[in-house]
Amino acid sequence: MPRIQVAYASRHGGTAGIARRIAEVLRAEGAEVVVADTADRPDPGTFDAHVIGSGVYLGSWLKEATAYLERHQSTLAERPIWLFSSGPLPGSTKEADATDPLTVALGPETGPGSGGHRKITELSAAIHPRDHRVFLGAYNPNDPPKSMPERFLRLMPAGKRILPAGDFREWEAIESWAREIALALGARVPIEA
Ligand SMILES: Cc1cc2nc3c(=O)[nH]c(=O)nc-3n(C[C@H](O)[C@H](O)[C@H](O)COP(=O)(O)O)c2cc1C
Repeated sequence: MPRIQVAYASRHGGTAGIARRIAEVLRAEGAEVVVADTADRPDPGTFDAHVIGSGVYLGSWLKEATAYLERHQSTLAERPIWLFSSGPLPGSTKEADATDPLTVALGPETGPGSGGHRKITELSAAIHPRDHRVFLGAYNPNDPPKSMPERFLRLMPAGKRILPAGDFREWEAIESWAREIALALGARVPIEA
């Protein structure tokens, strides 16, 4: 039975919910799963595989998630890794601009505003994830902002257009991705005839 860590970074709980759902599916498929918030500086321990995701804010993964990848790069590089970003809100300006899902979430690969994307490209080159999936996010305007840039963006006149309110998390796609991961890890013990 593979032991899998599902590690996440989340400001408003949307990505945490995705991580928990991935864990449920992996468990149902026969894996032993530990869910960890990267803000708690978890250890990569002796897991057989990792699923690691972050909410995207202003074109970047949250700091605690990139710090986790950086801190444990050499360990993670030796294990199967799957990454996910939870970000785009349908109809937001960023979403309309590009077709590559990572560019939609993180912004351009090069040039101005590419810092967040380049960081993920660099870290991915070091840990070579098997996949990096981008899932739509969730935004509740009644949930108070958790950082100064977030407060600022919400106050901007364009804020409502940039940040459409709603829970757009794609549960079916998330669950079927988790099943793909379980399959790749041979989680399900075949029933003997
Ligand atoms: C201030 C702010 C900035 C955001 N910037 C981005 C962004 O650059 N790219 C993106 O794909 N999503 C962006 N989002 C959407 C969030 O990634 C989405 O709401 C996600 O579900 C948040 O995850 P969390 O609830 O786990 O924190 C932004 C949301 C807020 C509130």
